[in-house]
Amino acid sequence: IERTLSIIKPDATKRNLTGKIIAKFEEAGLRVIAQKRIHLTKAQAGTFYVVHKERPFYDELCEFMASEPVVVQVLEGEGAISKNREVMGATNPADAAEGTVRAEFAESVGENSVHGSDAPETAAEEISYFFSGLELVG
Ligand code: GTP
Ligand code: MG
Repeated sequence: IERTLSIIKPDATKRNLTGKIIAKFEEAGLRVIAQKRIHLTKAQAGTFYVVHKERPFYDELCEFMASEPVVVQVLEGEGAISKNREVMGATNPADAAEGTVRAEFAESVGENSVHGSDAPETAAEEISYFFSGLELVG
């Protein structure tokens, strides 16, 4: 059974959409096995998104992720990484399939409501960035 790291981003927490987004995960068969609401510093956001540090939007992305609280969670289920990305929809909400989180809620390609790990290796790294083993209650 697979695990993935999910973040409900500042644009969504600000608009009080946490519950509606979690409902979509649960309806897709993903189980929330760890969750907390935190307010990242820009430096913490920068470390989390370090793979994007050469991209032109890196600074804007880090500012955004530190602008309001986020809800970080570990989702568990069969094929959780790809299932979560299906529920999320394409990065740019204009390209996201109907019914996905980003199609329904995202405001722009940057302020796109959710993050989800993209591979088993990154999922393991991202989960351990936010949670200790004791906090994962499957
Ligand atoms: P994540 O699950 O957040 O990693 O999204 P993703 O895998 O669909 O996209 P990617 O890893 O390519 O980009 C990471 C994040 O950077 C995106 O989710 C956006 O928040 C942001 N981002 C990507 N492209 C752009 C862009 O062109 N402009 C801005 N402002 N932000 C962008
Ligand atoms: Mg990504």
